[in-house]
Amino acid sequence: MTPHHLRLSPQLLSVPEYHSGTTLEDAARRSGVTDFVKLASNENPMGPSRRAVTAVREAARHLHLYPPASDDALRQRLARHEGPEFTADQVVCGHGGSDVLGILGEAFLEAGDEAIVCPPTFLLYGIVIARKGAKAVRCPLKGPGYDYDVDAILAAVTPQTRLLFLCSPVNPTGPLLTADRAARLMERLPRHVLAVFDESYRDFVDDPQAADARAFVRAGLPVVALRSMSKSWGLAGLRVGWGLAPAEVAGYLRRLRGPFALGSLAIAGALAALDDAGHLARSRRLVIRERAWLHRELSRRGLQPVPSQANFVLFRPGRPPEEVYERLLEHGVIVRPAAYFDSPECIRVTVGTRSQNRRFLAALDDVLFPGRAGAAS
Ligand SMILES: Cc1ncc(COP(=O)(O)O)c(C=O)c1O
Repeated sequence: MTPHHLRLSPQLLSVPEYHSGTTLEDAARRSGVTDFVKLASNENPMGPSRRAVTAVREAARHLHLYPPASDDALRQRLARHEGPEFTADQVVCGHGGSDVLGILGEAFLEAGDEAIVCPPTFLLYGIVIARKGAKAVRCPLKGPGYDYDVDAILAAVTPQTRLLFLCSPVNPTGPLLTADRAARLMERLPRHVLAVFDESYRDFVDDPQAADARAFVRAGLPVVALRSMSKSWGLAGLRVGWGLAPAEVAGYLRRLRGPFALGSLAIAGALAALDDAGHLARSRRLVIRERAWLHRELSRRGLQPVPSQANFVLFRPGRPPEEVYERLLEHGVIVRPAAYFDSPECIRVTVGTRSQNRRFLAALDDVLFPGRAGAAS
């Protein structure tokens, strides 16, 4: 590298990099296998909405033109999707939920501030906190149900606390924050703390006890409800996410958006997907049905799956997860060893179609129970 004299920030140099799930290209390079089923990044096994694909193709004909300078039209449509009582000024868009998380860190954190995280949880929260030189205060989820410990969270709040990250359903474990726990928390949470309800997987929830952050936004509390189009909408490649918040919070966050922040393909694809309610409903039905089946099959094998409300299931293979992951790669199946997510004995597998799930289970049987024929039903 050419020697240089740039002044690099030691704080930025200490920020850990985010490691994503193994890509198809990586898997092929590492294993020599070419036909893979990818169950590592919680993508939509049905693929994208066809309407979204058509809209992106159409928008691609105008790639020489700038997109609209503001994303007003998309924010209006997103507000309508959230409910008739919400308006565009309560929405802030980003390149995926990840980008909205980055904006939150940028807007609210400074060196010396504190932010609360509840591990095991999504690792980007810690990265966003580290980028700003703030301190991550850990309040672990408790018990076999990975429950939020409301009292511990409240006890951890100090005058320096700026953000509280609540993931529901939780990545990587799958359970959720219940409405009664969330209500108890929000009743007593000091108002100088902004609660980020990361509900990226909420479309897969079928538990009526689930918290819904919209209720708190509606009440004008300091809350951001985080959304992603990468999961239930099947648009991970397009990079669209948003936050729903009281107007003054959303407007404050939008100050960090440059002009033309979202590309024309992202805007066109997102708008078309929002008009394809059928695709969203089918994705949801497929995941809820297949999640239950996968859970049963993993339980039957004694692999202790955690009851999940998301589109993935965490389980204990009973063998070193990295080794199981490598062996599954040789069988053309990509999963995620969960050590990276503070769950060292576990593997996280995305819920796929029935045929993808069968292929995963057949490979798993081969790796964990060689010689025990026909475990997959
Ligand atoms: C809990 C959680 N939040 C946010 C995201 C960000 O998703 P994206 O940036 O693709 O919208 C993810 C992605 O895996 C996630 O698991």
